[in-house]
Amino acid sequence: MSALPGSHEGTAVTGLDSSPVEASPEVLATLPPLTEQTEAEAREIIARYPQPRSALLPMLHLVQSVQGYVSPEGVGFCARILGLTRAEVGAVSTFYTMYKRHPSGRHLVSVCTNTLCAVLGGQRIYDALSADLGVGHDQTAADGSVTLEHAECLAACDYAPVVTVDYEFYDQQDVESARRLVDALRRGEKPAPTRGAPLTDFRGISRQLAGFSQHADAAAERAAVDGPGVGEPTLVGVRLAAERGESAPPIEETPRSPHPSQTRSGPRDVAGQTPADRAGNASLAAADTPAEKAGAAQVHTDAPEPAGRQPAERGSEGTETPPNKSPGASGQGTSVEREV
Ligand code: FES
Repeated sequence: MSALPGSHEGTAVTGLDSSPVEASPEVLATLPPLTEQTEAEAREIIARYPQPRSALLPMLHLVQSVQGYVSPEGVGFCARILGLTRAEVGAVSTFYTMYKRHPSGRHLVSVCTNTLCAVLGGQRIYDALSADLGVGHDQTAADGSVTLEHAECLAACDYAPVVTVDYEFYDQQDVESARRLVDALRRGEKPAPTRGAPLTDFRGISRQLAGFSQHADAAAERAAVDGPGVGEPTLVGVRLAAERGESAPPIEETPRSPHPSQTRSGPRDVAGQTPADRAGNASLAAADTPAEKAGAAQVHTDAPEPAGRQPAERGSEGTETPPNKSPGASGQGTSVEREV
C-alpha cells in the first residue's frame, strides 16, 4: 500500500493525513488561529505529565476550546509539540467521541438513547429535536447554535431520560421540556442544569476539560465546584436500604487459584516434572516455525509467565483450571493432557 500524497508515517494504514475530516475551505478560513498563547498553555499541560505524549488528550480538548473541533491545524499542532505523527494524533482523536470531527455549534446537546433512557422516552426526545433543528446525529443547526448527537449511557440512569448540554445534566426530560431547553439555547440563554456547574458553552467546557478554568474569576469557579451534586433519585436506594437495615456484604478477598502445574497429577521426575510437563516441553522443542512454537507454548501450560504477570491472573482469561480439578478431567483439556 502506498502512502497518501503528503502523508506522514503511518497514514497509509489509517488514511488520516491530518484530520479525520477535512472541513471546507470556507470553514477553515473562519477558524480562530492557534496562537502563541495556545502553545504556551499546551506546554503547561505537558509539564503536568512525566511523558509529554501523555498530554495528548487534554491538548485535544485545548484545541477544541479554541477552534470548536479537532481541526487539521489542531492535529498538526499536537503532533509537532508532542513529537508524534499526525496519524498517531488522528488515531487517538477518532477513538473518542468527545473529540469532534466537525466544527461544533455553540452548544453540544447530547440525548441519551441508551436502553433505560430510550424506553422512558429518550428516543422520542431525540427524534423531536432532530426534526425541530433539521439535523441528524453529529450535525449542527444552520444557525450554528446547537450540535445534536445521540449519546450512549450518560451514567445518570436514575434520572432517565437524560439530556446533557456541554456535558451538564438536564435530568428527567420529556419531549416538551427538551424542546424548551433547546429553544432557550437558540435564543442565547443558558438555562441552569439540574445539578452540577452552571452552563457555559462547548468551547468553555472544552477548556475546562483541558485543565484550565473556564470561569471569569475565583468566585465563579468556586460556585461551579459547589453546584448541586447528588439528587434525590440517587439517594432513594440508600434510604430504602437504611430503612430496611440492609447493607452490602463485606468484600472478601478471592483466594488465588493454584497454577495448573500445582494441580497436575502424575509422578514427577527428579526435575519435578510430570509426564504432561515433559510432553509439553517436547512439543515446544520440536516446533519449527514461530507459529508452531506459539501453538506448542499454548499447549504447554507450564510455560513461564511473561514478566510482571502472576500465574493466577490467567484465571480471568477463562482457561484457568478450577481448584481441586485436574486439567482435562472435564474432557476439555489439551490434547497433551488428555494423553496423560
Ligand atoms: S441509559 Fe441514559 S443515562 Fe444510562
